Amino acid sequence: MIYLSDIKPSTEIDTSQLPDLSSYLQTIQSAVSAHTYEKQEGSPGLGDDTETLSLVQDMAKQMVSDELKYVIDIGIGGSNLGAKAVYDALHGYFDTLDPERTPRLLFADTNDPEYLSQLIRFLKQKVHKPQEIIINVISKSGGTTETITNAEVVLSALSHLDIKDRVVVTTEKTSPMGHAVEKRGFRFLPHPNVGGRYSILSTVGLFPLACVGVDIEALRSGAVAARENGLAGGVENSIALRSARTLFAHLLKGYIIHDTFFFHPELESLGKWYRQLTGESLGKEQDLDGKTVFAGMTPTVSVGSTDLHSMAQLYLGGPRNKITTFVSSAKSDSVRTPAEFVFDGLVSNITDRPIHEIMSAILEGTKVAYTKQKLPYMHIELDAIDEHSIGAFMQMRMIEMMLLARMMNINAFDQPHVEIYKKEVKRILAE
Ligand code: PA5
Repeated sequence: MIYLSDIKPSTEIDTSQLPDLSSYLQTIQSAVSAHTYEKQEGSPGLGDDTETLSLVQDMAKQMVSDELKYVIDIGIGGSNLGAKAVYDALHGYFDTLDPERTPRLLFADTNDPEYLSQLIRFLKQKVHKPQEIIINVISKSGGTTETITNAEVVLSALSHLDIKDRVVVTTEKTSPMGHAVEKRGFRFLPHPNVGGRYSILSTVGLFPLACVGVDIEALRSGAVAARENGLAGGVENSIALRSARTLFAHLLKGYIIHDTFFFHPELESLGKWYRQLTGESLGKEQDLDGKTVFAGMTPTVSVGSTDLHSMAQLYLGGPRNKITTFVSSAKSDSVRTPAEFVFDGLVSNITDRPIHEIMSAILEGTKVAYTKQKLPYMHIELDAIDEHSIGAFMQMRMIEMMLLARMMNINAFDQPHVEIYKKEVKRILAE
């Protein structure tokens, strides 16, 4: 589970006049109960959507065997950031230290020629049988340039194998890619009517994660627990609501940057997922009344303790326009420092101590520094870095974002300006 263990708003903050969200919380609750995703607020219903779970588990059962080595996740933005966040937290960050571990999840998002060239070489060297690979192409619209390019490159690299049956396309049935699936004989998973950045608990996130052994049921149960807390906990207990209110109150006072400061580097991708959730949900030219507002809150990601040695000077001494959420985990590995040091006596009292105590001291010291500088912050603690807590964190953030957008009077679910660049790319390539 997750806890909002500390909250230190700026002294000028008054939350007594913030918009009342009780009726909007009911709107979300009824959209969730419907399980149809017709209403955009329905995505938290994915956490206990049994049909989605069966679809994913059935497909994984058909495709995963002891021979499986690699799952290639081809998608961009909302189509891959959620799976990457969960995978990196549990495995991906450590993959370079354990290069033989399988099955592993590889990601192909942007069209980087250098990465693709290495990926082609890797696949040709390492994949000898179709059962060793799953290619999961994910695109809601079924027409994103980067995704289609990468899918074609990977399929072509493996053209010496009969891999038709090893390709799973996750898209909307009526999308251009959806139409092509049957013709090509690929497998298909439906992309629900949920925007990419709210789709981690759908086929989009769950299928690739299930294939590489992530406990997707624990991810879902964490999400459901956070949903109950978020929708029913009220101003006193709902973490999503408390965080949304704190962020909004600070935004009104000019705190336009929200820095999420993770004290576990393996959570950096979780930060990038949240960056997209905030960036695309809150960055809006117009409000719900059609008024031009150029709204937004800029999300940044920091990694402790590394970034204390690059960004702390700016955070502590620079412009007072940031609110920070520290994220840490209560439970950590028990690795200790040795009882005798080679560099003896340089830092006192760190021999024969659990490393997590040193990291905790760094985090506590950082919080004291923020307090001394009168900088606002919140602290979210995860029980552990496991599926349940990560699922809870992600669901809490998705509800928080809906509430925040509501207070800002903007649409949390569209991204009209992303479409501008997508259209321009297609026009330029067609010239
Ligand atoms: O959240 C979003 O809507 C975007 O980031 C999309 O996920 C991203 O542009 C990819 O689009 P698609 O899934 O249609 O390929």
